[in-house]
Amino acid sequence: MNEIIQYYNDLASTYDQNRFSNSYGRFIDFQERKILDTLLTDQKEQILDLACGTGRLLNYASIGVDASFEMIEVAKRKFPEKTFLQSEAGHILLEDNCIDTVISFHFFMHLDHSKINEVLEESNRILKKKGRIIFDIPSRKRRNLFGYKKANWHGASSFSINDFKVHPNFKVKRTFGFLFFPIHRFPDFCRKFLLPLDSFLASSFLKEYSSYLIIELEKK
Ligand SMILES: C[S@@+](CC[C@H](N)C(=O)[O-])C[C@H]1O[C@@H](n2cnc3c(N)ncnc32)[C@H](O)[C@@H]1O
Repeated sequence: MNEIIQYYNDLASTYDQNRFSNSYGRFIDFQERKILDTLLTDQKEQILDLACGTGRLLNYASIGVDASFEMIEVAKRKFPEKTFLQSEAGHILLEDNCIDTVISFHFFMHLDHSKINEVLEESNRILKKKGRIIFDIPSRKRRNLFGYKKANWHGASSFSINDFKVHPNFKVKRTFGFLFFPIHRFPDFCRKFLLPLDSFLASSFLKEYSSYLIIELEKK
């Protein structure tokens, strides 16, 4: 089993608590949901959450795909009515052209560029014409600004919006930023007061200087 899947199998039972029960996790979760709320407005869409993990964002989707058995087990307990596939993101056990929108959060950041291409290729296969894939990715402009060097697969990849503008199968539809301030450096009590300003700056012309970008690609 690969190192990343093993890591998440071991983390599954504490993932929600570790990552999202603190003010930093809530800050990120809030911003991501705000953006997803503006992007996912059609109730009739077939939406797939790729690398769904413990199902943090599964309220937006009807199908959850993840390679980790343990992460899926947690998600199933929260959403017994959804469909789950324990599947490698590059080989999803679904037929061609059957999904309207793929969402994938906190996943691409773990992958190197060739793996990301493989996942985009597979998403392209399962998406209907004009289907969308919506994902987050660390912003390269932000990383360059602070001289960030990747430590390991946790933050393996960063991109700028332009990198996706030349993709053969997808066109960039909309882009967003989130986490503009280095919120982990601010004391707990003031984080929620920074949210509106953070969201404002992250959606302004400065968005590529946010920590993360959300990219919406549309299948050509
Ligand atoms: C940080 S978690 C994100 C979970 C969820 N999307 C969220 O935002 O809370 C990353 C997830 O990617 C899954 N994963 C890692 N590599 C994968 C792969 N090659 N194929 C499918 N899932 C993978 C892990 O099992 C883990 O559940």
